[in-house]
Amino acid sequence: MNDSKILEVIKSKTSKPIAEVGIILGSGLGSFIEEIQDKVIYSFEDLPGFPITSVEGHKSQLILGQINGIDVAVLQGRVHYYEDANIDAMKLPLQTLKSLGCSTIILTNSAGSLNPNASPGEVVLLTDHINYMGISPLFKEKGNTRFVNMNDGYDPLLRDLFLKVAKQQNILLHEGVYFWFCGPNFETPAEIRGAKILGGDLVGMSTVPEVILARYLGLKVAALSVVTNMASGMDDQPLSHERTIENAKKGIIDLKKLLVSFLESFSTN
Ligand code: HPA
Repeated sequence: MNDSKILEVIKSKTSKPIAEVGIILGSGLGSFIEEIQDKVIYSFEDLPGFPITSVEGHKSQLILGQINGIDVAVLQGRVHYYEDANIDAMKLPLQTLKSLGCSTIILTNSAGSLNPNASPGEVVLLTDHINYMGISPLFKEKGNTRFVNMNDGYDPLLRDLFLKVAKQQNILLHEGVYFWFCGPNFETPAEIRGAKILGGDLVGMSTVPEVILARYLGLKVAALSVVTNMASGMDDQPLSHERTIENAKKGIIDLKKLLVSFLESFSTN
């Protein structure tokens, strides 16, 4: 499937069907769209082939507009592998962001923390990920471009810029490695102990397929996690999606500031 029909729908509503930075919002982080000026909103249902998520806390909208003078395309919601066991479900949305002109993608998600110093409500900049699930969104691709170099998956210059703006804004920004568990069940305490031994700092059920697809498409990537809970077995609080959504609201304040200041600096760099 290609994105030509999607681009037709997008062009029918705006004379400016372009964006420089694509942003994907994770569970409970949708209120970030308040920061976008001159919004043009498309429901995923109106974009042929766009996957609709069944997860509460994701709205399934594409929003075009500006933040600090930068043209952005924001996906308020994403599908997860655990919904339909479709590992490349996010390919068309990412291809669409690229066709709109995006060269940079910022991914956000909610995650559990394996690091006792990174607490619920705090934000972590991803430095890398561990895909231990045995699956890749590039399974059905052909040709040599499928052998994507993941050495610089999380762009060093974008990461430096996030660290710089966090310092300027006096926002605590941790750094860490994201360990992808496909979900939808939360992890067992033994799985979390294993993930920690393997080098994980965060656990979550998204982001990794999108990062691989984005790199395949030649897009630069940065990713931020909002910690919504300590990972399974690390405290005595039961894990639930309701708790994820509730705690994501605490982290959204810093996340919004970080993204807005990042875009301000991005335009001058
Ligand atoms: N595990 C997996 N995904 C998550 C978690 C978690 O603890 N918290 C938020 N998303």
